[in-house]
Amino acid sequence: MRHISVIGSGTMGNGIAHTFAQFGFDVSLVDINPDALSKALLTIADNLDRQIKKGTITDSDKLHTLGRIATYSSVADGVKAADFVVEAATENEAVKLGLFAELDRLCPAHTILTSNTSSISITKIASATSRPDKVIGMHFMNPVPVMKLVEVIKGYATSVDTITTIIALSKQLDKVPVESNDYPGFVANRILMPMINEAIYALYEGVADAEAIDTVMKLGMAHPMGPLQLADFIGLDVCLSILRVLHSGFGNPKYAPCPLLVNMVAAGKLGRKSGQGFYRY
Ligand SMILES: NC(=O)c1ccc[n+]([C@@H]2O[C@H](COP(=O)([O-])OP(=O)(O)OC[C@H]3O[C@@H](n4cnc5c(N)ncnc54)[C@H](O)[C@@H]3O)[C@@H](O)[C@H]2O)c1
Repeated sequence: MRHISVIGSGTMGNGIAHTFAQFGFDVSLVDINPDALSKALLTIADNLDRQIKKGTITDSDKLHTLGRIATYSSVADGVKAADFVVEAATENEAVKLGLFAELDRLCPAHTILTSNTSSISITKIASATSRPDKVIGMHFMNPVPVMKLVEVIKGYATSVDTITTIIALSKQLDKVPVESNDYPGFVANRILMPMINEAIYALYEGVADAEAIDTVMKLGMAHPMGPLQLADFIGLDVCLSILRVLHSGFGNPKYAPCPLLVNMVAAGKLGRKSGQGFYRY
C-alpha cells in the first residue's frame, strides 16, 4: 500500500494529499479543474511552511513531501497505479456515483476505494461498483494535517479485511480512527450540522449577530471556534448538501436547512473559499 490517488483537490483533497505525502506515500492528486490543482499545490506549500515555522517539520521534509505529489486532470491517468483511492470530490450523490463507477472500471482489481463524504451513504456509493467489499468511508476532518480524527464508515458489504486495512492506514498517518455504521451523516455531521443549522436560525431570527453567537459558543461552551465561523471554514455549500442528506435520509423536518443558508449558497457566499460567508476573508 504505497500509492494513493486523491480525487478532488479542494479544501479536503489538498489536505489529504499533503498528509499522505508527508508520511511517505506516493500521491497522485486528481481534479477535473486544472486551476484547483495549481491552487492546491500552493496551499500545500503554504501549510508546509507553517509546519516549518512551528518546528514540526524541516525544509527537507517540505521538499520531499512536495516531491511525492504528482497532479493529474484526467482520472484515468491519475488512478492507474493506485493501491487505494480517497475520493474527496464535490458533496453530491450523482457526482460520487458517477466517479465510483469510473474508478471501478479504471483502477487495478486490488485497489480499495474510499470516500471522504461527509454524509452520503457508503452502501449506495459502493453499489455503483463491482467491488462493494472494497469500498469504505474514510472521513478526514478539516484541516487534515492537524486534525486527529478519521471516521471510518462501514458500508453494508464492506469486508473485514478492508476495515482492518483502513484502520491500520489511519494509524500510519498518526490519526485516531473511529468506526461508525452507515447512516446519514454518520456520527460527526449528524451531531455537528444540526448545531450549525440552529446557529444560522438564531442569526436569521435576529436573536443575536454572528459574532455574538460565535462568542457565546466559544466562551460559554469552550468550543475552539464558533459554529458560524466553522460553517464558513467547512464551506456553506458543503453544509447545505449535508443537511439535505440528513433531511431526506431521516425524513425528519428537524434537519431542514435554514432558508438563510439556502439563500447564501444561491448568492455564491460559500464562506472562506469564496471570500465571504458569515464573515469576510
Ligand atoms: N469542507 C470540509 O470541511 C469537509 C470536511 C470533511 C469532509 N468533507 C467532504 O470532502 C469532500 C470534498 O469537500 P471539499 O470541501 O474539499 O469540496 P471543494 O468544493 O472544496 O472541492 C471539491 C473538488 O472536487 C473537484 N471535482 C468535482 N467533481 C470531480 C470529478 N468528477 N473528478 C475530479 N474532481 C472533481 C472540484 O473541481 C473541486 O476542486 C466532500 O464529500 C465533503 O463532504 C468536507
